[in-house]
Amino acid sequence: MSYATKLLTTSEADIEYAAGLIADGEVVGMPTETVYGLAADAENISAVEKIFQAKGRPQDNPLIVHIAEAGDIGRYARDVPEIAYKLAEKFCPGPLTMVLPKRDRIPDITSAGLDTVGIRIPYHNAARKLIRLSGKAIAAPSANLSGSPSPTTAAHVINDMNGRIPAVIDGGNCPVGVESTVISFENEAIRILRPGFISWEELSEFGEVVKDKHITESAGEGEAVRSPGMKYKHYSPKARVTIVCGSEQQFVDFVNNLNDENVYAMPFEISEKMRVPCIPYGKTAEEQAARLFAVLREFDEKSAERVYAMCPSQSGVGLAVYNRLLRAAGFEIINL
Ligand code: TXA
Ligand code: MG
Repeated sequence: MSYATKLLTTSEADIEYAAGLIADGEVVGMPTETVYGLAADAENISAVEKIFQAKGRPQDNPLIVHIAEAGDIGRYARDVPEIAYKLAEKFCPGPLTMVLPKRDRIPDITSAGLDTVGIRIPYHNAARKLIRLSGKAIAAPSANLSGSPSPTTAAHVINDMNGRIPAVIDGGNCPVGVESTVISFENEAIRILRPGFISWEELSEFGEVVKDKHITESAGEGEAVRSPGMKYKHYSPKARVTIVCGSEQQFVDFVNNLNDENVYAMPFEISEKMRVPCIPYGKTAEEQAARLFAVLREFDEKSAERVYAMCPSQSGVGLAVYNRLLRAAGFEIINL
């Protein structure tokens, strides 16, 4: 099915219109504080099928279910550990997804056949209103075509989804810029399955926090992973991306000595000494998170073939930036 995709505002009337689409089993582009999502009624099988179709997403990759408040967690999840409520009190609404045993009302298509469900309470006003006005729990993956960088503006969503969905709510730039931190619980410990803005450091104040090894290591062929998304190459622009680790001076010397055609550098900031075209992605980890996906998409617009990115730090939200960049680069790293 092809739609004339409407661009909606965050006005009450427009969000009400979008909520009506969700209640009718349609898919809507929804802004959140992390990235834009493709929103549909999490309990409506045919609506969730439309999400998978619009994205071209593999059926074995589960969707996160978005709800309006922590008091609703028990409607969709069971055997919720005490620590989950403590984390919700501290970090929700916000960019945190908790994987919990699911209740039967979450259909298999939404959880991709797993007996767990990822639950998230977004902070973004438009997302919260959409959930409230539709009266539904909302299943929403990032609103990119499967494999592409996640969208952080409504224009990115239109770029990938024009004609594939009936409407997108334009909520401006997503302030966080990388997707939510996904965690699961094992006995007393918290396991980070996907790093995000809520960092290992912040979670560690609540007890032992394990970083899953596939945050920074590629999953081998057929190797078991704890989160299906870890198997897939993600966030890739069309260019081949390589991460370069070293000092700023070493990075500049390295890119200046390249002989590749159509090569771009992705430094933290512009340096006058750099002789190749570059798109900087920010000095602090927070800036890098907010800009990363938009910058990767800009390389596509410039038809870049080769991109060398300066390696980010791995502390705080830097771990999330590093994790996304590793996947964009297919785990290709050069140590200077
Ligand atoms: O910030 C976000 O989380 C955004 C916005 C739209 O909320 N959503 C998002 O969804 O990033 P998606 O589908 O692009 O990524 C969800 C990730 C996938 O890697 C998936 O495998 C993992 O979370 N996931 C979802 N449910 C899971 C579950 N029950 N167990 C393990 N991993 C799960
Ligand atoms: Mg995604």
